Amino acid sequence: MYARKTGTAWEIFAPAKLNLYLDVLGRRADGFHELETVMAPVQLHDRLQWAPSDRGAETPFSLRFHPSSSSHAGELPLGRSNLVWQAADALAQDAGLAPHGVITLTKRIPTQAGLGGGSSDAAATLVLLNAAWGLDYSRSRLARLAAQLGSDVPFFLAGSTAICRGRGEIIEPLDDMPRYDVVVVAPPAGVPTAAAFAALGAPPVEHRREPSRSEQLTQLVADLKRGAVAAAGRRMKNGLQHIAETLCPAVRRIGTAFASIACCAHLLTGSGSAYFGVMHSARQARRAAALLRSLDLGSVFATATCR
Ligand code: C5P
Repeated sequence: MYARKTGTAWEIFAPAKLNLYLDVLGRRADGFHELETVMAPVQLHDRLQWAPSDRGAETPFSLRFHPSSSSHAGELPLGRSNLVWQAADALAQDAGLAPHGVITLTKRIPTQAGLGGGSSDAAATLVLLNAAWGLDYSRSRLARLAAQLGSDVPFFLAGSTAICRGRGEIIEPLDDMPRYDVVVVAPPAGVPTAAAFAALGAPPVEHRREPSRSEQLTQLVADLKRGAVAAAGRRMKNGLQHIAETLCPAVRRIGTAFASIACCAHLLTGSGSAYFGVMHSARQARRAAALLRSLDLGSVFATATCR
């Protein structure tokens, strides 16, 4: 994730993510859940632009949506509860300055979908404002702020496919990962993350498991690295899928639709409600996307993982 200067303004692209594997190991004393998950960034992006405000650094910080944002952006808060605001506040406070300038957010990633859009926007805001405000913070210094903003924010800051542990913030990057063609379907109704974890009723984690990979995860990573998409697909899983199917009936309908088309695997991402299929090729992904669009299940994206 890198910010690019355009005149006096800066811009950055914030990718969505897919969970290729998600195992909930148990509930922790702090209320979060201990996870073992593989997350991959995908080529479906929000865009953030920062510009100095007309009246300089004295004018308070503001956030607005670009008019070309998807329609669901209208449901998002533009005030301090937005993670972009929170990231700007956290960075400004750490640096001892007043947040300033205008961020224009072009929202494309569906919300409450398990695609990590809000977390990615937060990570992008840290990188964007680090550049725009001339702070020159190191990535490890930004990573400390990222972990305070949300469980998935450090993953987006790191920027590559990774095994994530703890509540999601302990990152083991997986280098040299091939691209995988995918189709993502996001139904109109979302699943709030906290509600999905609460409904799971997971047992407490008695002893935090040492960071040893399960056999299934070890094999999945090996298959992913060698580009064995069909074998990798058989090892993908999501321990929150049955809960999401209960909370959001559209998830099961999308799963049934994927079961009728040729793909290597199909599963939920994060706590949903978005669902994805892993395809053999970009051509197959485009064809599947056209078919799924005709079923009117929600927003459909033929895309691919990034490294
Ligand atoms: O960290 P984040 O703010 O994205 O998490 C949102 C909510 O999801 C948390 O408040 C918590 O209820 C739940 N969660 C969890 N275990 C995790 C991550 C999130 O229980 N590992």
